[in-house]
Amino acid sequence: MSVVLELTGVGKSYLRGGERIHALREFDFVLAAGEFVVVTGPSGSGKSTLLHIAGGLDAPDTGTVRFRDTDVWAMGANARSAFRRRNLGFVFQFFNLVPMLTAVENVSLPLVLDGVPARVADERARTLLGRVGLGARAEHRPAELSGGQMQRVSVARAMVAEPALLLADEPTGNLDSGSSAEVLAVVRELAAEQDAAVIMVTHDPAMVEFGSRHLGLVDGRAHELVPDAADGR
Ligand SMILES: Nc1ncnc2c1ncn2[C@@H]1O[C@H](COP(=O)(O)OP(=O)(O)OP(=O)(O)O)[C@@H](O)[C@H]1O
Ligand SMILES: [Mg+2]
Repeated sequence: MSVVLELTGVGKSYLRGGERIHALREFDFVLAAGEFVVVTGPSGSGKSTLLHIAGGLDAPDTGTVRFRDTDVWAMGANARSAFRRRNLGFVFQFFNLVPMLTAVENVSLPLVLDGVPARVADERARTLLGRVGLGARAEHRPAELSGGQMQRVSVARAMVAEPALLLADEPTGNLDSGSSAEVLAVVRELAAEQDAAVIMVTHDPAMVEFGSRHLGLVDGRAHELVPDAADGR
């Protein structure tokens, strides 16, 4: 199997009101290409912390994060931003689209920032928007789109550079069930097509069946669960 991401002994804690909060403890995790991991757990169990550390957004206190052959936290901040743009896609609960940019400009942004010629980036972004069912909305700004449509734009943006890993933090947390299903469908489709691994955090137990693996977090520790055994919770 080809390993995309490997977390070894990752720990992260925060000091709050004189008390040390352990967001992640001794966390070990190996992710192979094409795997789809659904992460669940109570509020405060460390789910977002895990995504931020795995995605090179937040530094661990202890342990290492390797992406293929790269130690993510051994490089400088500028190199890490470029690395993220080329290798990782992010989808957040509240979309994080740039309000002043149109849908197609939002989607092409990661490519433009990476030096891809504007025409090529634009074309690629339009193709991706078509793939998520929003070809007709390319010139709309986020405020002119529904929540579900904004999230599909976010998915297109996350996948436009063909990342090896997609990190999604409660991507359907703000959507109704119909829009959630559409967002999940495009995530699954694009990830499968690009052979991207996915780590998706969710509060919705029904989404566990979407994954090839299910990780339950409790108090900063992971419990690997067999998806079938998690049914009916
Ligand atoms: N910047 C920070 N400063 C202090 N404490 C933090 C910080 N970030 C996270 N924490 C704490 O670390 C723990 C894990 O937080 P995290 O955001 O990873 O939880 P979560 O599982 O994503 O929760 P939720 O489901 O509510 O999003 C929590 O106790 C949280 O309060
Ligand atoms: Mg969270």
